[in-house]
Order: sequence, then structure tokens, then C-alpha cells
Amino acid sequence: MSRRKFITNTFLGSIATSSIGFNLNDSNLKKFSVPRIISTWNHGLGANKVAWTNLKDGKGGLTAVEQGVRVSEDDPNERSVGLGGLPDRKGNVTLDACIMDKNNDCGAVSFLQNIKNPISVARLVMEKTPHVMLTGKGAYDFAIEQGFKSENLLTEKSKEDWLKWLEKSNYKPTINIENHDTISMLLIDSNRDIFGACTTSGAAWKIHGRVGDSPIIGAGLFLDNDVGAAAATGLGEAVIRTAGSAMVVEIMRQGASPLEACKEVVNRISKIHRNRPEWEYLQVGFIALNKNGEHAGYSLKKGFNYALKDDENEKMIDANFKIK
Ligand code: GLY
Repeated sequence: MSRRKFITNTFLGSIATSSIGFNLNDSNLKKFSVPRIISTWNHGLGANKVAWTNLKDGKGGLTAVEQGVRVSEDDPNERSVGLGGLPDRKGNVTLDACIMDKNNDCGAVSFLQNIKNPISVARLVMEKTPHVMLTGKGAYDFAIEQGFKSENLLTEKSKEDWLKWLEKSNYKPTINIENHDTISMLLIDSNRDIFGACTTSGAAWKIHGRVGDSPIIGAGLFLDNDVGAAAATGLGEAVIRTAGSAMVVEIMRQGASPLEACKEVVNRISKIHRNRPEWEYLQVGFIALNKNGEHAGYSLKKGFNYALKDDENEKMIDANFKIK
């Protein structure tokens, strides 16, 4: 049955069905460059570079995305991921991450403390356990068993910021270009196989124990190797409420472009959050790429950008947005 027969307008509304084909013989595929990597925010540039080197060295897409996002996890100056991430309101840095491959294999850790590279623990959950996600103390014990080092992730700078926050204790996560959250990376290799990774220290000043969208397959990250991939950044609760990344991929499956699909999900988020208290500070953004290597980013509010790396490009792209 042709792909077109699957296309329905049931929930796509006015989104025009595009002529994107997912058949590898389709001549459309020649139009776009692969391999290609996209990652959220400015720290995506450095992460993409390392992912690209891994890919070119033949390490494979999964290792490429893992090693790529580790750049942000290792950097104490990246205050929303890994070491030096802003803590919860009790002063604990708690990390969430997930990873997914072309076969729908996936692994995740949530509420992980004292381990700098949650993405690598997530990969081992995928490869060495019958499970998809380990959380909290169980995830920590597993990481230690696997040889990870226990370390304090609260840097002096993050501690200072936390003590300052405690003076007013006003929970209003600010997510923008200077103070981004989460690195999500999507990669399509030269065989057009797709891989993704997502890692974060989550919303600053969250309640101890809170887990966001980033370790949740379908929320912070999702891919289907027949269709494409999507990943999120921004306030995790809003992304979880809409099964954000899975929806972007499903909408692409119906024939929408990456941009149309991201836009559709951001519109849904906007609609259901307009009358909620967090509307005032809500920001969410998605990146997506399809089997063609065609990519896009779209956010609720202005200020989201993403990094692109391929044979011709190594640059930041300002995402389209719904609200100025
Ligand atoms: N998107 C990261 C979080 O909400 O935890």
C-alpha cells in the first residue's frame, strides 16, 4: 500500500500533506544531505562536532550521540546539564537522560545523583538490562556497579545561585537562549539510520524528586527509523502532557514536514496551557528530522535555537516560534 494511502486529515487539520517519501528509492532523498546532526541550543555546536568525529571515525550513530551530548554533561559552565547543573530546591543536582537507536531500543535514567554522565548510564540500561529506565538510588547503584565514579556535581557557582534563589524561593523556570535547558541530539547517518539522545539536570529549583520529560521516551525524545525523530527542550511538564516528541514523529508519519509537525505539537501545548499558571514562564521547543534528513526547530516563544552539522554546515539556526 502506498504511503499516501495512510495520509489522513483527521488531526492534521489544515496541514498540507507534503511530498516527502520514506522509500529509499525515492529521488527526493537526493535533495538532502546525510549524515546530519541537529542539537538543541548553542552547546549543540560543540556536542555536534564531537558526535560528527565519532561518526566519521566509524564508531556508529549510538556512540556518536552519546559522546556528543557528554560534552555538555562534562562542562561545568553548562548549567542545565550534568556537572554544574542547577540543583533542586534542596541543593541536589539530579539528572535525567535517555538514548534511543534505530531499532527502537532505548535506555533511560531519571533522578540520578552524583554521576556526571547519565547518558552513558542510560545506554548501559539499554544494553545490559531487560529494562528501559532505572531511577534514583537504583540507577545510582547500577552506575556504580558499572564502574562510574561517584562525585559531587554541585559546583561553587551552582551552589551560589541556589543560595541566592533561596532568598526568594520563587519557582519560575527561565528557559531562553542565555539560560537554556537540556541538550537533545538527533542524528541520521549515511545509511539513513536514526539515533537520538537527550540529557538534562532538569528545571532549576524543582521539588526534590521531580522528573521532567527528558528521560521519558516519547516525551523528551522519540524516533522511528521508518519516519524520523524528534526531541524536546523546555518545561518538561508541558512536553509530557502532550507526549510531545512521539506526537511530532507520528505527525510526520502522516506526511507533515518536520516544521509542520513541531508546529502542530507546539500549538497543542499552547492551547492546553493558556489558562494555566505556568503560561507566564512557559517555553518549549522541538527539533525534528525526517528520513530525508530534512530538519526543523520550532518553539512556543522566541529565543530557541539549534545547532546543525553536516558536510556543508556547522552553524546555529534560529528556530521559528509561535509567540514573540
Ligand atoms: N526539559 C527538561 C525538564 O523539564 O526537565
